[in-house]
Amino acid sequence: MPHRYLFANWKNRLTIAQSVELAKRIVESPGSRGLPFQLVLCPTFVALTEVARIVNGTNIELAAQNLVWDDQFTFTGETHAKVLVEIGCRYVIIGHSERRIHLGETDEMVERKVQAALSYDLIPVICVGERFEDRSRREEVVTNQLLRALAGVDDFKRSIHESLVVAYEPAWAISTSSVGIPLTATEANRMHQLIREVLTVRISSSVVRETSVAYGGSMSPENIEEYLSQPEIDGGLVGSASQSIHSVLRLIEIANRIYSTSGR
Ligand code: PGA
Repeated sequence: MPHRYLFANWKNRLTIAQSVELAKRIVESPGSRGLPFQLVLCPTFVALTEVARIVNGTNIELAAQNLVWDDQFTFTGETHAKVLVEIGCRYVIIGHSERRIHLGETDEMVERKVQAALSYDLIPVICVGERFEDRSRREEVVTNQLLRALAGVDDFKRSIHESLVVAYEPAWAISTSSVGIPLTATEANRMHQLIREVLTVRISSSVVRETSVAYGGSMSPENIEEYLSQPEIDGGLVGSASQSIHSVLRLIEIANRIYSTSGR
């Protein structure tokens, strides 16, 4: 069975002080202990070190929101995988639609970042998802993004499922995008099925059954239950609703109830 996840993607929305405060309150909450899923905090880069100290010794993991690949060149302003490992990150978000759309991140860059993450034993959380104008050909867009992201990974060991998370996030469904409408849970489930089929082309089907595919896009305490109850959805990558204490604790509580009672 794939691992279940809840990623709290704080993007660039919180200051260091706010990130520290939120992380402390999550760690101190009795509701965050003994969870049947992996809770992963994804703070802004400059807050990673402080948040790492707070989650150290707990079951909560840390993700960076980006990394840079190894190259003959150096990249001023970027952060190398080995630094993320040094800080204590176990995961790294790669190819988020905000980076693809607003910062010119290409499929080729995503591919290099996935290879960089895997070669330093960081688990890539590979984001795929179509833009609003591409909704009618979303299967094609997502298939191409995913195959491209994995193109440089030729050493698919049997344990790859432990080394890989895919997050399906339609760009237009993200709460802060200009559209910001959540995709229905059944449509999301159908896309997750497709993602597993695409992964089967690259990895053996038994391993794919173990690979986690999370959904993201306007997930909130009001709708998370619908998503997490879908058979193909292994968790959530949550932005806005994970950035305040009341809301994030509600998300944790609901995910806890669903994954504890449904065997999912
Ligand atoms: P949202 O963001 O939950 O605010 O829609 C999700 C994401 O961008 O990862």
